[in-house]
Amino acid sequence: MKKPLSLKQSVLAAISIIGGLILMAAAIDPGLPLGYWDNPSAKVPSSHNWSELEKDLRPEACAQCHAAQFNVWKKSLHAHAYSPGLVGQFPGQGHTYANDCLVCHAPLKEQLYTDPTDMDDSILLRLKHAEGFDADADADYDVSDRDTKLLPLRHTGVSCAVCHVRNGDRFGPPPKTTGAVGKQDTPAHGGFTATKDFEQSQFCASCHQFPDYMAINGKPLENTLIEWKNSSFSDKGVTCQVCHMPDRAHEFRGIHDPKMVKKGLSFSLTEQNHSANLSITSTWIGHAFPTYVTPKVIVEAEALNAVGSIMQHQQWEIIREVAYQGDGWKELRDTRIMPGETRQFLLKALPTDARSVRYTVRVIPDNFYKGLYESLLSDELTAVAGAHIRKANQQAANNDYLLYEKVITLIQAH
Ligand code: HEC
Ligand code: HEC
Ligand code: HEC
Ligand code: HEC
Ligand code: HEC
Repeated sequence: MKKPLSLKQSVLAAISIIGGLILMAAAIDPGLPLGYWDNPSAKVPSSHNWSELEKDLRPEACAQCHAAQFNVWKKSLHAHAYSPGLVGQFPGQGHTYANDCLVCHAPLKEQLYTDPTDMDDSILLRLKHAEGFDADADADYDVSDRDTKLLPLRHTGVSCAVCHVRNGDRFGPPPKTTGAVGKQDTPAHGGFTATKDFEQSQFCASCHQFPDYMAINGKPLENTLIEWKNSSFSDKGVTCQVCHMPDRAHEFRGIHDPKMVKKGLSFSLTEQNHSANLSITSTWIGHAFPTYVTPKVIVEAEALNAVGSIMQHQQWEIIREVAYQGDGWKELRDTRIMPGETRQFLLKALPTDARSVRYTVRVIPDNFYKGLYESLLSDELTAVAGAHIRKANQQAANNDYLLYEKVITLIQAH
């Protein structure tokens, strides 16, 4: 219980509320400029007499002053979005087809392909930069070593400038210290514009939500924002950023990270009426598990006898499976677990000599792509495309992991 306020306290509270209102009225949140995500360009106007460093849009340049963000972001999938699996699909397609993919994977005008030769050169160069960022290097890049060691801006995928820079101007969330919105005068790159739009889930939508008209069985192929809006997380103000950028850290961890997935689920394994049951509850995932059509999760149950031989086996798949059939995409099944939902995986009518039951949950984050790469490799690919797709296929296989394994010893007589 709170104590009632004394008169002095109430007067002080009233003054601070009024003061707050005046402050709010003084600084109006400008929001993101209209068309922030339409053909974005980050290029610094030549009229700015900034230092070379302030004009440099590459993440290694931002890193000289924003090392904390860079060191976390460079390990995220955003930093690796200009990937072998992506560019390996481009040879043979026109560069305009490829640019339609880059609108999410490397969307700045300065990153798009200007012509077929530009595309071919870039795909060849990407083979040399096969490993992307040097995971061990800290932010001490020699940015004056302009074109030799550092990645071209395009190769840095969903780069700092993609989210933060338009026509040279920096945009960011209100500073944690002041919460101020609007134009902020700071020593570098002509200050920046602070807007709460950076704290909204909508900020992620241009790449993580397809429009309604692209629906398959009522749901677009990417439906993450709508799934979030339909969940209790949106009522509670738990945005994408709260989970994927904790305390503003640029982690963007998702289904490729076992720790992140474990954090989102809770497991309970029990024995009941000659059955074993694993229940999985989605406790901290702001959208379907998984949200995309590309991963597959396999739940397996095995009843074992006294010497560990398998007496009974059952398997379930958690997936939204789609396939391209003749005239378009069709949904084959959708068994994903929704936010807050508990799903039972029941192994019924256990054999009498069963003594224990083993449950495993395996995650195949790139299930769809693995199939795609296999089929591409069975076609005739150019040498460069083949090198990229083989690499992508290998990486995809390395991403599979065991999420959960537990054995329950049966107590009841069967
Ligand atoms: C020479 C140093 C320097 C370089 C280079 C630099 N910045 Fe900054 N930046 C600053 C300073 C100083 C501030 C204001 C204080 C702060 O928030 O750190 C700032 C502020 C920002 C903000 C606003 C932070 C907030 O609180 O919302 C963003 C976003 C930003 N910079 C992005 C970038 C990006 C992207 C690059 C590279 C393309 C870059 N900066 C390059 C020094 C630099
Ligand atoms: C609307 C945004 C968007 C567009 C357009 C888009 N992608 Fe992606 N792509 C994503 C997202 C988000 C992921 C990560 C989630 C996932 O696994 O599906 C991804 C993942 C991928 C991956 C697997 C991860 C990797 O980088 O190796 C490949 C390959 C890929 N996309 C290829 C393409 C190709 C080819 C096109 C164009 C035909 C394309 N994408 C267009 C958003 C997009
Ligand atoms: C996919 C979009 C995206 C990318 C890529 C990205 N950022 Fe951010 N950044 C954000 C968002 C969103 C926030 C605000 C998060 C919040 O408020 O929870 C933010 C916050 C920031 C801040 C303010 C941090 C603070 O503690 O107040 C800085 C500085 C910044 N980013 C710099 C960078 C730099 C440098 C890079 C590249 C190394 C980068 N960002 C890449 C989306 C992005
Ligand atoms: C410019 C487009 C773009 C924007 C904006 C963007 N993303 Fe992404 N995001 C991508 C692409 C493309 C990938 C896939 C990268 C890859 O693997 O090739 C991705 C991957 C991810 C992943 C990893 C998925 C996995 O499979 O593990 C997470 C998590 C994520 N994004 C969250 C966010 C959040 C949260 C925001 C908003 C703050 C955001 N993204 C904004 C394009 C974008
Ligand atoms: C309550 C926390 C939470 C919120 C809110 C949340 N996510 Fe996630 N997200 C997770 C967890 C945990 C995972 C890993 C499990 C999974 O893949 O579903 C994940 C996975 C992902 C993935 C990986 C791909 C996949 O198929 O699952 C992407 C992309 C993603 N989130 C984007 C977003 C976007 C965009 C938003 C906002 C619209 C958002 N997330 C909101 C917790 C959250």
